[in-house]
Amino acid sequence: MSKKLKHYLQFSNFTADEYAYLFERAALIKRKFKAYEKHHPLTDRTLALIFEKASTRTRVSFEAGMYQLGGSVVHLTTGDSQLGRAEPIEDSARVISRMVDLVMIRTFEQTKIDRFAEYSRVPVINGLTNEFHPCQIMADIFTFIEHRGSIRGKTVAWVGDGNNMANTWLQAAQLLDFTVHVSTPRGYEIDRAVAGVRNDCYRVFKDPMLACANADLVTTDVWTSMGFEAENEARKKAFADWCVDMDMMRTAKSDALFMHCLPAHRGEEVDVDVIDGPQSVVWDEAENRLHVQKALMEYLLLGQL
Ligand code: CP
Repeated sequence: MSKKLKHYLQFSNFTADEYAYLFERAALIKRKFKAYEKHHPLTDRTLALIFEKASTRTRVSFEAGMYQLGGSVVHLTTGDSQLGRAEPIEDSARVISRMVDLVMIRTFEQTKIDRFAEYSRVPVINGLTNEFHPCQIMADIFTFIEHRGSIRGKTVAWVGDGNNMANTWLQAAQLLDFTVHVSTPRGYEIDRAVAGVRNDCYRVFKDPMLACANADLVTTDVWTSMGFEAENEARKKAFADWCVDMDMMRTAKSDALFMHCLPAHRGEEVDVDVIDGPQSVVWDEAENRLHVQKALMEYLLLGQL
């Protein structure tokens, strides 16, 4: 009997039990990495990385991660493949998935990755779409657990754009049983229908200071996500009061953490005192992309070990 193909297209694709396994596995894989212990469960497996948008962390963490697991990587971009010359997604998916074992895609609309997955013979991972960034939130929650223990029952303050990160935090909150306090400027609100969540896993605040009150974690992202550059000037005006500063951090719990998925614009969405201050865990957060994604790739190809 053939094994059911599993994709990772949204945070809600996995259960809470699957995340519990992945976080444990990521911790083990991280320990082995730090001890220079070989861990090669994916020998002879190949990962295709498809980027239709720029990346530093996602590319390095997937590429280095796959080599560290014993496998290899093929890297494609829109500019250097037929993807940029209008080859249908369905055909690209059929062809690429006959030649590799796993595909990661960073693209624009979620419908594009969903269509690719529908025609793929191998697991597909979302490396960021306009709607979701599940690998990042997996790394963020793993980082929270490392520093503070379980995220269950905790409060995460989201300050800024109602973007792919915000949508993914909402999915995570519903699944892992915590609350998100969301504060966005008017016109940049989250759309609950996109996240597909119940309305009891988050609360909306007009004032970002109130969203941060008693939070266990304060987090934000750039004011202008990739693909929305034409709105940059309008966004700078609209988001002027949504800069995470020390006043906001002081309204959060005294041991609150600060996270940012990076790249960051100091002086825009976050003050330098916050991102470079003692409550910030952004470097651990970035590093943990490597460890959680290694656990994810291993799980998608080999199941629970
Ligand atoms: N956070 C994140 O996805 O970083 P990159 O855009 O550099 O991949």
